[in-house]
Amino acid sequence: MIVFTDYYQNQVYLSFADHPFSKEPKHVWVICRYHHQWLLTNHCHRGLEFPGGKVENGETPEQAAIREVKEETGGIVDELIYLGQYKVEGKGQTIVKNIYFANVKELKKQHSYLETNGPVLLNQLPNDIVCDDRFSFIMKDEVLVQSLQEIKKRSL
Ligand code: GTP
Repeated sequence: MIVFTDYYQNQVYLSFADHPFSKEPKHVWVICRYHHQWLLTNHCHRGLEFPGGKVENGETPEQAAIREVKEETGGIVDELIYLGQYKVEGKGQTIVKNIYFANVKELKKQHSYLETNGPVLLNQLPNDIVCDDRFSFIMKDEVLVQSLQEIKKRSL
């Protein structure tokens, strides 16, 4: 397990084991690839980030991941792979989020992308995301760095 603080100085616990913090996490985050590009969404307030959100009642985290990718980017998930989980001890609440890697086979234009401006494709993620105002705070801590390493390690 890796422990660090996030952009807002909240304590974060990250692990690539099988659901170490909760069997029923209420949040999901999906690192998406569309062919040879990274597929992100442009959140209206937070900026560029991989899609994700809350698990709705009656949904599994996997279903939530597939739904969120479609709602926020129009991406149709072909393959969804569980990577790990993290827990954020926020000021008011603690949240647990599953991290997935997804291969997206198709981008379907949506009438609305909810609270986002829709899909953004990047050939590469910049090295200095922490200092880059275009990116969301959720892209600015060790969760992204370690998850990308895990994807590489597993040759995904
Ligand atoms: P909404 O109901 O969507 O407005 O939710 P919220 O703004 O209360 O946020 P949410 O329940 O998604 O998360 C609560 C808090 O947890 C946020 O304010 C963040 O501080 C923190 N948080 C949520 N997701 C992440 C994440 O991916 N990374 C980090 N570091 N913190 C997160």
